[in-house]
Amino acid sequence: MKGMVQTGPEAGQPPFGVMPLSDALGAEIIGLDLRERLSKSVFDAVLDTWHAHGVLLFRGQDLDETKQAAFGARFGDLGKVLNNHNGRSSTPGVMYISNVREDGQLVGALPDGEMFFHSDQCYVERPGMATMLYAMEVPSRGGDTLFANMYTAYETLPGRIRARIEGKLALNVYDYENNATTRGSEPREGVPSFAHPIVRTHPATGRRALYVNRLMTHHIVGMDRAESDALLDMIFDHQERPEFIYEHVWTPGDLLIWDNRCTLHARSNFDAAERRMMRRVAILGDKPY
Ligand code: SIN
Repeated sequence: MKGMVQTGPEAGQPPFGVMPLSDALGAEIIGLDLRERLSKSVFDAVLDTWHAHGVLLFRGQDLDETKQAAFGARFGDLGKVLNNHNGRSSTPGVMYISNVREDGQLVGALPDGEMFFHSDQCYVERPGMATMLYAMEVPSRGGDTLFANMYTAYETLPGRIRARIEGKLALNVYDYENNATTRGSEPREGVPSFAHPIVRTHPATGRRALYVNRLMTHHIVGMDRAESDALLDMIFDHQERPEFIYEHVWTPGDLLIWDNRCTLHARSNFDAAERRMMRRVAILGDKPY
């Protein structure tokens, strides 16, 4: 996901610029207004750029729910919204990530504070392949979203560690309240969970990527628990090495789309007294293999 790619209006080139966001991953797409429907050839070029960089940024966008959902639907079927916070969104597939309260009620999910690295919905059989977040209101400091490149994390693991995880599954659980992935604790009965390959193959690029994470991966299936804990802790530290990470400091009007199949993301802390209002669309994916 490295390298400077500059495209322009020459023959055979898409009509947008591509500026890498970091040495780790991510690229900014320059020159597209996402209120307008992109032609098939332009969208295909966007898709290729996304596959090459893992995260795309479009700055200065002016999107309502319908326009954001329509752009998301170009990537695939939109995921179901599990909590619409009293009908906050009137567009299927759209939800809010926010700490804002109206009449004492939260208007969005995942309201406050830091979040550890994770891949969205890794605790279900068919996790979302992509997540799109649009910044409406952001705090003056913090609330940044960090992305880590799981292709590079896999490729740079020592060979002896790669051999130990080859062909193995890990159980991912959704149990934030119980802090289930703190080593030594157990998930509560009935919480959503699913075992997926520790290393998955990206269906579009054919590349292999690490698919475990500190927030939701509980243990390696069929491995002694102490050995699994030690191995996972080592992998989590490796995945979060600074050279694999791009940290996005949001400005209202930014739209980011990330690929959950080859990246992890996290959120930095922010002042709970400041408003943060983001609009999210998730795109369905296939069962990891
Ligand atoms: C998420 O993990 O989907 C939320 C990320 C964020 O709020 O920056």
